[in-house]
Amino acid sequence: MPACYNMGKYTGNVNNPVERVKSMKAYAQRTKEELLEELGHVEKEYQALKELGLNLNIARGKPGSEQLDLVRPMMDVLNTESDYICDGIDVRNYGNLEGLPACRKLFAELLGVKPENVLVGGNASLLLMYQVINAAYIHGLRANAWCKCEKVRWLCPAPGYDRHFKITESFGFELVTVPMTPEGPEMDLVEELIKDPAVKGMWCVPKYSNPDGVIYSDDTIRRIAAMKPAAEDFLLMWDNAYCVHEFAVSYQPFPSILAECEKKGNGDMVFEFASTSKITFPGAGVSCFACSEENLRRMIKELTVQIISYDKVNQLRHVRYLKDKEGVLSLMRQHAQVLAPKFFCVLETLEREIAPLGIAQWEKPVGGYFISVNVLPGTAMETWELCRDAGLTLTKAGASFPYGKDPQDSNIRVAPSLPPVEQLEQAMQIFCCSMKLAALRKLVCSFES
Ligand SMILES: Cc1ncc(COP(=O)(O)O)c(C=O)c1O
Repeated sequence: MPACYNMGKYTGNVNNPVERVKSMKAYAQRTKEELLEELGHVEKEYQALKELGLNLNIARGKPGSEQLDLVRPMMDVLNTESDYICDGIDVRNYGNLEGLPACRKLFAELLGVKPENVLVGGNASLLLMYQVINAAYIHGLRANAWCKCEKVRWLCPAPGYDRHFKITESFGFELVTVPMTPEGPEMDLVEELIKDPAVKGMWCVPKYSNPDGVIYSDDTIRRIAAMKPAAEDFLLMWDNAYCVHEFAVSYQPFPSILAECEKKGNGDMVFEFASTSKITFPGAGVSCFACSEENLRRMIKELTVQIISYDKVNQLRHVRYLKDKEGVLSLMRQHAQVLAPKFFCVLETLEREIAPLGIAQWEKPVGGYFISVNVLPGTAMETWELCRDAGLTLTKAGASFPYGKDPQDSNIRVAPSLPPVEQLEQAMQIFCCSMKLAALRKLVCSFES
């Protein structure tokens, strides 16, 4: 899948990259004197950046205002009274808890499932995820309520999405870290861990994982779908938040987990989630889950107690504006025009400023919202603090691991989507400088100890 960044107007702020790279030697190959000299330079560079008094934020995967503006016409699609009628349903009224049929159909097409398998909810897929786990915890979805279990353990591929981990932590589950690989979660370990009946579920972000930007390989998907967990009510939480979110390549088709699980007799094991948070508006989009018809029936029973019906006016706005999968993909190509230069800016700066020094590694995603940077082990928290003190907000170091604790103290998530490229360049200067400073301090110390 060759990356094909459309850099737009971005040309980089490179003065003479070839010369600079030549003059840079990996820190690990430097003598103590050379490191001390470099430390002096980098301390000065850091102080100068700090004195600029900047206030920059690359913490969360929020679309930038240019992206939100792209979707503004969606607010104009419902005008006259007849606009509010869809398939004979007046969307302004109560009803259709499972979602507007046309919107179920739209999500079904995006996820490659049948409309009967889809429930369309409100503006947050995260809430649907919470509600599914809550149902299993309080009443039991497919077996006894988990609140009656002595212990519930939960598999957390990491680095992963902090809000997933918080949901399962909030129920008191024991979070079990499973290392991520470039192909997805380490499956040998997963297959071993699910032999424990206390292991009740697993988080997965299968396409452009948060934060690594990894796409699970076909083999990983096949093994996940074929799992035979000891827990009969094991829940696979398949969060396909970035299912159509390519920015540097064309749309990559992706297998339907529901179909794969059904083939292996595991149709009831999985809930797949998605939303338009990063297609239309975060906080004002629509979300969905897809699951077996039996699970859908169980969840409707749960949700009926909580809500009469979701916002079908917004569901209809989305249907009228996006129309179908091709409509969505066409909009995503416009988002890509905005996002690619931002990702390129981050990757190019890392390549130029950090790669020759050998103090960090990172993935080069072609979709999703994040770049995952692994700095010199033992320096992520210090890098994060240095960034904070110089006016750059990043997601807290460690957040991408269960309980907020990165055992290597190495992973930092960069979310380049919100600021304009000019601000991103400044943010990357602070980030690279802080990363170098933290690494130099550690390396100099290692000579002294
Ligand atoms: C993997 C993942 N899932 C879910 C969400 C949030 O989705 P929603 O806005 O639909 O709740 C995010 C937001 O960053 C995310 O990265």
